[in-house]
Amino acid sequence: MRPCATVTSHPSTSPRAAALNPSPVPPPAAGPWRLLRPLLFRLDAERAHQLGVLWGSSGLAVWLARLAGGRRGADVARAPELATRVMGLSFPNPLGIAAGLDKDAQAVGFWQALGFGFIEVGTVTALRQPGNPRPRVFRLPEDGALVNSMGFPSAGADVVATRIERLRQRDLLQVPLGINIGRSKVVPAAEASADYRRSFERLGELADFVVLNLSSPNTPGLRDLQAGDQVQAIVSALQRPNQALSAPKPLLVKLAPDLTDAEAVGCARAALAAGCAGLVVTNTSLDFSAVAADTAGLHGGLSGRPLFARSTALLKLLRAEIGAGPVLIGVGGVMDAASATAKLAAGADLIQLYTGLVYGGPSLPRTLLGELPARVMAGRGASKQ
Ligand SMILES: Cc1cc2nc3c(=O)[nH]c(=O)nc-3n(C[C@H](O)[C@H](O)[C@H](O)COP(=O)(O)O)c2cc1C
Repeated sequence: MRPCATVTSHPSTSPRAAALNPSPVPPPAAGPWRLLRPLLFRLDAERAHQLGVLWGSSGLAVWLARLAGGRRGADVARAPELATRVMGLSFPNPLGIAAGLDKDAQAVGFWQALGFGFIEVGTVTALRQPGNPRPRVFRLPEDGALVNSMGFPSAGADVVATRIERLRQRDLLQVPLGINIGRSKVVPAAEASADYRRSFERLGELADFVVLNLSSPNTPGLRDLQAGDQVQAIVSALQRPNQALSAPKPLLVKLAPDLTDAEAVGCARAALAAGCAGLVVTNTSLDFSAVAADTAGLHGGLSGRPLFARSTALLKLLRAEIGAGPVLIGVGGVMDAASATAKLAAGADLIQLYTGLVYGGPSLPRTLLGELPARVMAGRGASKQ
């Protein structure tokens, strides 16, 4: 494993990689990010990320990000044609922060001020845990990609719940908040349902929607939980406490892009049959064949531009298979307005990004939203009040 976190391109890029990832240049950076990005990219990727989250948790960062959005009525992120209503929730726009960026809900106000229309925090585990040894995040700049093997470092459900309780009490949330929960590493697979239930009982009431992460490649055995009977068992275990809430929360299952089409459809059907509102498509991939960089020695989940083709194909397939009703959140390789538009056209109600923000910087959400064609937004979400 390389000590430094940036991997450069391999001279003999495979034809498949070239076909799937046709632009072997780093994604563009605009404004001050053009100057800041090269400096941050000298640091270990996780260290740079932590600095970003630390900055985002400061009042100054939130104030500056709000200032960049301009007056509320003139903010492109709140343009009326972007408003989206799904799962009974109102989203000012359909672009959200993907899970993993703010695992412990430390900078929620900042993501909101950058213009994101919703936030998914987590993955949160019931028990506090450190995750895998470092280094565990790697940049592949010429692929516009990251590889991570974080393994759910989490402050644990209690700490995250306390943070969100504070946000709720002070009425600081203006966009829907999703909470992504995952299995604690020390809990055996056979006890997964009870572990998810424990997280849900602490966090469910505080969320606008809850995502069950069954698809991270970095927790041994987690992806086996995507088998139909396992999905049904876990969702059913949560539905009992969920239905006891004054307003039950929409539950979504997050899928891996490495499932076969048939497996993904089977998992989706099992989740919906157990009462889920929809699916998040997709998590990171173990398939590096669309990557130009030399990935020898790297292990973990791939995100960013090389993930776009598979995650979008799966999204399109699932929309065709499950029909218009269930909610689909499209994530994987959203880097700009073109890739965001393609996700929406493939059937996503909402979209998310992580890697795009690392390369595009904090102005990306508003730039992207400002370039979303009005025709893409017309009539969306009307059937999912
Ligand atoms: C460093 C890193 C950490 C991540 N952590 C999580 C996580 O804790 N839970 C989760 O469901 N997804 C996690 N993801 C996956 C993202 O939420 C997203 O599904 C994936 O990165 C594809 O989107 P992107 O191409 O926009 O990055 C992580 C991704 C990265 C790059």
